[in-house]
Parts: sequence; C-alpha cells; structure tokens
Amino acid sequence: MVAKNKFFGMLAGVTGLLSVASAQNTTVNIDATKSIAKVPSTMWGVFFEDINFGADGGLYAELIKNRSFEFTQPLMGWKKLGKANKEGVFLVENREKENLKNPRYLQVTAGKTSKGDLGLYNEGFRGMGLKAGVGYDFSVMYRTKTSGRSLDIELVDSSNKVVGSAQLQLSNADGQWHKATVSFNSNTTVLKGGANIWIVGEGNVDLDMLSLFPKDTWKNRPGGLRADMVQRLADMKPGFIRFPGGCIVEGRDLANRYQWKNTVGPIEERKLIMNRWNTEFAHRPAPDYFQTFGLGFFEYFQLSEDIGAEPLPIINCGMACQFNTSEVQDMSELDPYVQDALDLIEFANGATTTKWGKLRADMGHPAPFNLKMMGIGNENWGPQYVERLHLFQDAIAKKYPKMKLVCSSGTDPNGEKFDFLNDTLRKMKVAYIDEHYYRSPEWFLDNAGRYDNYTRNGSKVFAGEYAAQSDGMANPTNRNTWLTALSEAAFMTGLERNAGAVEMASYAPLFAHVDAWQWTPDMIWVNNLQTYATPDYYVQQLYSLNKGTDVVSATINGKVIEGENKLYISSVKDEKKKEIIVKIVNASADAKKLDVDIKNKEKMKSATLVTLQSKDMQAVNSFDHPENVAPKESSLTIKGNKIQLDAAANTFYVVKVQY
Ligand code: AHR
Repeated sequence: MVAKNKFFGMLAGVTGLLSVASAQNTTVNIDATKSIAKVPSTMWGVFFEDINFGADGGLYAELIKNRSFEFTQPLMGWKKLGKANKEGVFLVENREKENLKNPRYLQVTAGKTSKGDLGLYNEGFRGMGLKAGVGYDFSVMYRTKTSGRSLDIELVDSSNKVVGSAQLQLSNADGQWHKATVSFNSNTTVLKGGANIWIVGEGNVDLDMLSLFPKDTWKNRPGGLRADMVQRLADMKPGFIRFPGGCIVEGRDLANRYQWKNTVGPIEERKLIMNRWNTEFAHRPAPDYFQTFGLGFFEYFQLSEDIGAEPLPIINCGMACQFNTSEVQDMSELDPYVQDALDLIEFANGATTTKWGKLRADMGHPAPFNLKMMGIGNENWGPQYVERLHLFQDAIAKKYPKMKLVCSSGTDPNGEKFDFLNDTLRKMKVAYIDEHYYRSPEWFLDNAGRYDNYTRNGSKVFAGEYAAQSDGMANPTNRNTWLTALSEAAFMTGLERNAGAVEMASYAPLFAHVDAWQWTPDMIWVNNLQTYATPDYYVQQLYSLNKGTDVVSATINGKVIEGENKLYISSVKDEKKKEIIVKIVNASADAKKLDVDIKNKEKMKSATLVTLQSKDMQAVNSFDHPENVAPKESSLTIKGNKIQLDAAANTFYVVKVQY
C-alpha cells in the first residue's frame, strides 16, 4: 500500500493560473504527423460478470425474487400472509414431468377468500426500488378450471403502506397454463419496498412465475434491463462487452458452470442455478444469490448491439474453477462443450433456417448479431487447459475460420503459469491472450511500461480484467479511491501507447449492489434506484470517449515515461474528428510546469482540457457525493503549436487539440 502522504501535494491550478512547485519546465513532445499504430475500435470495453448482484437484483430489472420458487429453499424471499395460509393452504409441488426446468409451483386449494385472508409477500432483492409515477407490469402464470379467482397486487413501502395496487382476474378456466398481466403505477418513490399478492375468490388455482417489472426499462422493453445501469455503459461508448464473466463461466463445479443454452428461449424454461458467489466468500455470504438467466445470452447480444459494442461471450472449456476444484471434463467427453461453442456461433450469426439461428429469430432478432470473437475458458491454466483448448481451436477454425479466440493466461500477469501459457498460446497463434491484473496502485504505476517492448507480431493482448486494489486482492475493505483511479490512468497510458500489442482492455468487476456485493472494488455502484460512478469509471470513460484512430508519438523530456517524476503520457490522433488527444498523468506530489509542443501537418485551431483530480488520494464518490471526483472541462490556450500546462499534483489530464 502506498503511503498516503506520498501522494499528497500542493494542488496547483489547471491552466497556468496558480503557482507550481518545480522551477524547471518539462518538455512534452507530440508528433502527430505519423501514425505509430491504429487504435482498434475494440480498444476500451466493459467486462460484465454476474457478481455483486450484477444480473438478478441488478441489471435485470425483475423486482420479484425467487419468482418461480426454484431457489434451494422454495419459499426464500416470500412470506405467507393471512390466516388461511396458516391453515396450510399452499403447497409447493413438483410439476410431474411437465416442465423439468421449472418444476415447482404453488397450488392454492383454500376455500373462499377475501383480501387479507390469503396471500404472499415478496421482499425483492434487498427490497424493491419503486418510483412515483412509473408504471409496473405484474404477470403470473396460472392454471385453473374454475375462473373464480383473482389476485390483488399491492406495492408497499417498508412500513407496508400501499403505494400502488391492481386486480388481476384469472379468468381462463381451461385447465392449461396461461399468462395474465396487469399494469399499474406506484404513487411514491420507495428505496426498499415490497409486494403483497392477495389471492381472492374461490376455486383451486396453480400459480407460477410471479413477476414484476418497471415499465421504464432500457428502451422500454417489457421484462428488460434497468435503464439507469445500461445508460452508464452506453455513456462509455465501449468497444466491446465481455459476458457473462469471470469465474461464473467456470462454476464451482462443472454441474454449475455457465451453459448458454440454458439461458435462451422462453424465460419460464430457463433452468435456474445457484450463483457461484452465493457461497464463495464466507465474509460476504449471499444465500439468496441465484441465476434465473432472465438476462441470458440473447439479452447480452441485444445489449451489445444497443450500445454499439462488439459482443464477447466467454464459454466454459471443460474445466471448473481451479481455485475451487480440480474437476475437469475428460478429454474423451469434451464433444458437447465444443458443440456448445459451435452452436453459439450459429445462434449469433447463423441463417434463420439453421436450428440455432431460428431460435434467435424466434426470440425477435432474425438479423445476425455479427459475432467476431469468443473466449474459451476464463481463468484456466496449465497443460489441461491447453489440451482442451486445442480441441476447441481446431473445431472452430474448421467451421468458422474467421472467428477470433480469446484465451486465458491464468490468474496472474507473471510467474510460471503465465509464462507457460503466454509462450504456448503464442505458438498456437491464438488471436487474443487474456491477461488479468488485480494489483496494488504501485504495481499499476510501476508497470505502465509493461508493453513498451512487447512484440507486435502474433497474438494480441486483451487486458481482460484489471483494477487497482487499495487494500489487497478482493479485500472487503477495498475502495474505489482517487489513488486507485489515478494509478489505473497511468497504467492505461501504456496500454494506449502500445495499441499495436494490446487490442482490448476492460476494468473488472463492473457493477456492485451496495447491499449485496461480494467483491470490491467495482466500477459502478448501485442501489435499488440509483447508480453512481467511481473515479475509476471516469478514467475508463475518458479513455474510451477519447480513443482516437491512431497512436502518435508522445514523450516527456525525451522519454515515454518519466518514472522518477511520476509523469505518464500517451497520445492519439482522431482522423475523423480532426483532433489530437494527449493523456497526461502527474502521479507525483509536485505540480509540474509542462511545455507541450505538438507537431502536426495541419494548423491547430483550439484546445480544450479535461481534468480529473482530487487533493485527497483517498477520496471516493458516493450516492450523496456522486461527483466528488468527476471530470471538468475548460478551455486551454494554444499558441501556434505550443500549450503551457501547469499540471497539478496527482491529476489526470486529457488535452484535446482541434485542427
Ligand atoms: O472479477 C472477479 C473475479 O476475478 C472474476 O470472476 C475472475 O475472473 C477473477 O478472478
């Protein structure tokens, strides 16, 4: 951990107005006359994993927890209401062979009931976020032969005060399963509400898939995603979105690995499993964390398309999480895994006449999703991984020669496991090597030059998961501080400068629910109603929104990194926007006077400056102070080809010069 005072310095002003500590000027040279490398459109992306209630209870806007009673404890999340209930009128039974993927349902055999007699309360995911004036869609699957029953649905606040209600008649009495829906508004905003569902009238009825969604989902899609969370992603304009993880892909054992085929088709037929983060950390147990797969592979592809990001699905390679178990699928039994990979490509890209292409069309997307790359295995390592990877590589190359594979280099960015995989994967000529770094802020500063001498030939680097850890890997006291963000900004100059070697990068993890997280730090924090972006988010966003088209030469006092002075730099040119963009990190405790000299073929007209800074290295954002550390834009004077920048201590600058 870096000593706090090491990073405290005098805070100087932004553009030459305030005093600076160092007497000598530092020369920054930018040569925008030639392109060193193209910046790939995929350079800055996002990594989504269903951790920290990222999907159920997070991005997936369903408000009812355990809607189909398939959690290990069938009534988890539910409370029985009313006296009739105490007399045992509810049964949770198996739906003999009807729907093995969703076998449980409620059987109501009570006599005549009125509101208040018989019902259920659902607590939501750490409560339900309800918004005044917003519409809600309640739906249920039911089966009856009497048509005498209806449901009275009430949205309630934490003291059980009703803030919205509706009645729903279960009128189809043909003895088959039907879906009934009703929409109504909430009249109050509630952070941690719930829902009462009263069963009234007479006659036997079976109930399943009790569901409640807000109408204001992303793109107003019924049963869709939380719009405020997706907006945070859209605001980054990410080049790709990797999904669904992370260790979630591997599973604690193979039975609980992520299987994409279980996540597509009608939602009532998507077989739920326990989320691996349910039990992973004893200090952060989450017994109610399951994967309903309402957010499944179709929805991930659709999300990628919506926000203009290339989809990057990762699939299991026949190995469970090597931190948890040594369970691997025998090589002779790997065919179904390989077939899953081939079928996924067909699902994403295949003609609607193919089996999986047809399913995509039936789900509402006849056009292909244009999948270009996919990951085989998450953090897998060792010869067993390589053996399995060969099978996937051969089969995919044979049928889909253009598909690019993202392959694991294990859990660490150095050491024996890494070296073995890095060498082997390069020999195998895989397209991308996925490197992960969860390290201290010092590591990020010290490794900003990691790729300066990396080969540009062959496999490209995908910095697939990284985040500076304020107190150690996944330590529950980790916070998203200004120090972590600044060290990532410095490291990212090295990624950008080396875009010929590194083609993709993503911070991890992406989302965390403040009441339900397992892992910290995380890029975006949410509660049931709001989100806030961390300083780390703003760093990612500034790189992504200013990614340019070409890397150009940038030096400080003739060097790419001024390590002793803790000055880091990279520069790109945007041929389309006609802009030269310089990223400068001053990670020292001293202000620096920078003379920036820019060479360009065309005359430069104007300049703007974006500044991200805090005097306090431990500064964080929060729901109360969401912009405590946030970018600020100002104008900058450019004289001919020169800019003077008084770079304050511990500050990240993005200088944008229009030509
Ligand atoms: O991002 C959290 C976890 O960190 C991921 O699931 C895994 O890939 C890594 O170990």
